[in-house]
Amino acid sequence: MRIGLLGTGNVARALAHGWSAAGHDVLLGSRHPAERKDIGLPVAGLSATADHAEVLVNATPGTASVELLRSIGAPALAGTLLIDVGVGLSDDFTELSHPNSSLAEEIQEAFPLTPVVKTLCTMDSTVMTAPDGLDGPSTVFLSGDDADAKRTTGRLLTDLGWPPSAQLDIGGITTSRGQEHFALLFMGIAGGLGAHTFNIKVVTRPPAQVLPSA
Ligand SMILES: NC(=O)c1ccc[n+]([C@@H]2O[C@H](COP(=O)([O-])OP(=O)(O)OC[C@H]3O[C@@H](n4cnc5c(N)ncnc54)[C@H](OP(=O)(O)O)[C@@H]3O)[C@@H](O)[C@H]2O)c1
Repeated sequence: MRIGLLGTGNVARALAHGWSAAGHDVLLGSRHPAERKDIGLPVAGLSATADHAEVLVNATPGTASVELLRSIGAPALAGTLLIDVGVGLSDDFTELSHPNSSLAEEIQEAFPLTPVVKTLCTMDSTVMTAPDGLDGPSTVFLSGDDADAKRTTGRLLTDLGWPPSAQLDIGGITTSRGQEHFALLFMGIAGGLGAHTFNIKVVTRPPAQVLPSA
C-alpha cells in the first residue's frame, strides 16, 4: 500500500522502516522536508504526503496534530484511512492535552469523512515494529468507528509483526481515550522498570481467542 507518515521522529521513522521492509511504498511527511535527508527513506511536504497516501499515519505531537491536519485540509484527507498513533502529553509527561477525551476523537470529529483508527500508542516506538523482541507475546489495541478501516489497520499491524491473536479491537473511536490515557501509566511503569522496552498483555480465564472484530 502507499503509506504516508506525518512526522519524521521516532515513531514515524520506526513505522516507515517497518512497513518499507514489508514491501509497502512509504513516504514521510515533514514541515521541513529539505532538512530531513538523513532518514534513508523518501521525505516530502505534508500535503504531498497526504496526496500520495492510501493510508496516512499521524505520528506528530498530539498537542499539534489537529492544527497540522487542518493545514493539509479536510478535502485532501477525505476518504483516506488515518491511523493515529499520537498522544498529547505535556513536556514533563505528567498531563494529557485531552484529559476528558482523546486526540483521536478530536481528529475524527474535525474530519468526519476520514476514518480514524487509533492504535500502537500504548507502547514504545521500538516495540511497535519488533513485538517479538519482547519476552513473550503482548497486545496491541485498535479503536475506531469504521470496520473496513480497522480491518486494513489490522493487516498493516500484521505486517509489522503483530499476529491477529495479538490484536484487540476495543470498540469505537471513543475507546481511544483509554489507549491515550494509558500513557500516564506507561510513564509510571517505565519509571519503575527503568526502561521503555516493554508492553502489556491482556490475559483472560478461560483462554479466549482475541481476534479483530469483523
Ligand atoms: N516515541 C514513542 O515511543 C511513542 C510511543 C507512543 C506514542 N507516541 C506518540 O507518537 C507521536 C510521535 O512521537 P515521536 O516520539 O515520534 O515524536 P518526535 O520524535 O518528537 O517526532 C514528532 C515529529 O512530528 C513532526 N511535527 C509536526 N508538528 C510538530 C510540532 N508542532 N512540534 C514538534 N514536531 C512536530 C516533526 O517532524 P518535522 O519536523 O519533520 O515536521 C517531528 O519529528 C507523539 O504524539 C507521541 O506522543 C510516541
